[in-house]
Amino acid sequence: MVGKNDILDRVRNKALQDKIVTAEEAAEFIKPGMSIGTSGFTPSGYPKAVPHALAERMKKTPFKINLWTGASVGPELDGELAAVKGIDFRMPYQTNKDIQKAINTGEISYCDLDLSSSAQMARYGFMKGNKIDVAIVEAAAITEEGNIIPTTSVGNAPSYVQTADVVIVEVNTSQPLALEGMHDIYVPLDPPYRLPIPVVRPDTRIGTPFIPCDPAKIKYIVPSDVTDKVRPLAAVDDVAKKMAGNLIDFLDGEVKAGRMPQNLLPLQSGVGNVANAALSGFVNSKYEHLTVYTEVIQDGIFDMIDAGKLDFASGTSLTPSPDGQKRFYENIEKYKKKIMLRPQEISNNPEVVRRLGVIAMNTAIEADIYGNINSTLVNGTRMMNGIGGSGDFARNGYLTIFLTQSTAKNGDISSIVPFVSHVDHGQQVVDAIVTEQGVADLRGVCPRERAKLIINNCANPEYRPLLQDYYDRALKATMEKGVAHTPHILKEALSFHVRLAETGSMKVK
Ligand code: COA
Repeated sequence: MVGKNDILDRVRNKALQDKIVTAEEAAEFIKPGMSIGTSGFTPSGYPKAVPHALAERMKKTPFKINLWTGASVGPELDGELAAVKGIDFRMPYQTNKDIQKAINTGEISYCDLDLSSSAQMARYGFMKGNKIDVAIVEAAAITEEGNIIPTTSVGNAPSYVQTADVVIVEVNTSQPLALEGMHDIYVPLDPPYRLPIPVVRPDTRIGTPFIPCDPAKIKYIVPSDVTDKVRPLAAVDDVAKKMAGNLIDFLDGEVKAGRMPQNLLPLQSGVGNVANAALSGFVNSKYEHLTVYTEVIQDGIFDMIDAGKLDFASGTSLTPSPDGQKRFYENIEKYKKKIMLRPQEISNNPEVVRRLGVIAMNTAIEADIYGNINSTLVNGTRMMNGIGGSGDFARNGYLTIFLTQSTAKNGDISSIVPFVSHVDHGQQVVDAIVTEQGVADLRGVCPRERAKLIINNCANPEYRPLLQDYYDRALKATMEKGVAHTPHILKEALSFHVRLAETGSMKVK
């Protein structure tokens, strides 16, 4: 366990050193019903010691708080607080299994939000509780002026620090001091005073390398040495390789057609195994001098840097696997030159994404034959993770692509269905769908044409006849009535999901 003496060199403002206390002492300050805003985005850069102490306190004296983060966070925060039933309200994204269970049983009220807008919603006073009572932020160091050097993510920490009444800083000695200089912190003014956000390239620096903080707001500083609990990524299997290959072929066509430069446009890729696999495709591609303007920096981006393919990556969080984390820490000086971490309000900013012409590549749980995308709710009701940044990028990308394997759960689920059971991304924003089967280029075509492309190019051959049969009958029925712009048979539109619920498979036995 680290103590006060272990962090003195990191708390450069001498007066603030008097505020160093244990995690238990800091956690005592948190009262029932408070809204707590934390750093952290994926299991990176989140506070660990104070949440753990808070959960221990809640075990003895149960009470609940509202928890606002950047996105998903690690087990010491989401997991431990959920296990002691310590969360009443949660926003804006999560992946922890205990939290998911509590959200789906109704124990936790969950507000799923576009990640770019969550900080401003906090500043506007739109969220439950109106304002943040306490911000808890992980830091690599505190500067002479009392400003906060973030660690492996930025997320919403700058806005939470700005709006909170009180700030608790966890100075984490497991986070290398070499992280200093990787961050670019900029918080826009709110309307009617907001100015254009001057990012014109992925590497444009527009802010400060620290989170500005009035030292008088810092109530406690807590020493910690608890590491980020990053998670393994699935190996890139043959299906994922095929998907990545189809994606690269599609982009090759764009370059050939003169719609994209030789080094493409800035890449954005979503979270999870599929997104990481998609990025891996670029490592062995012919492309060079690539740039990335994204949210999470996963192992695939380190691979691209090592392969000499990538000029620069901007994100809000480092989200490596355990091996990737080791690789990053061991080569931090090399990676630091090519990676910048920004607040998620900027990494995902609609204005910037539209200006840079980002290629938005996100993962769908399911897509329907017209191109609507469900990224969040399994069978329309069970919350998975949340929309994350997929909407920020999808709605504003130069080219908006959704990827998914054509089937899930050993083939019992078709990821292409007649009608998605929930819509996160309407068909109007979806330019292309990529599965391991192929690509449906949906730009500029009507829904009936879209259905043909999606069924023939993306659906698994095992499900194509079922989808075609549905479409043919829907077309006939709606044509007869003169209402066939987007053919559906309402009673059957969710029949694949109903069959899954009743028989355990979307296949017809
Ligand atoms: N129906 C039911 N379950 C499905 C499914 C479907 N059509 N498609 C996938 N799944 C299940 C998988 O079986 C797997 O389940 P498991 O956890 O029990 O093994 C799980 O969903 C994850 O699927 P996987 O294929 O491993 O994909 P992933 O890790 O790439 O995650 C999303 C996919 C959609 C859940 C994830 O990308 C996500 O949360 N997206 C929304 C947020 C987002 O896009 N953020 C990026 C912005 S930068």
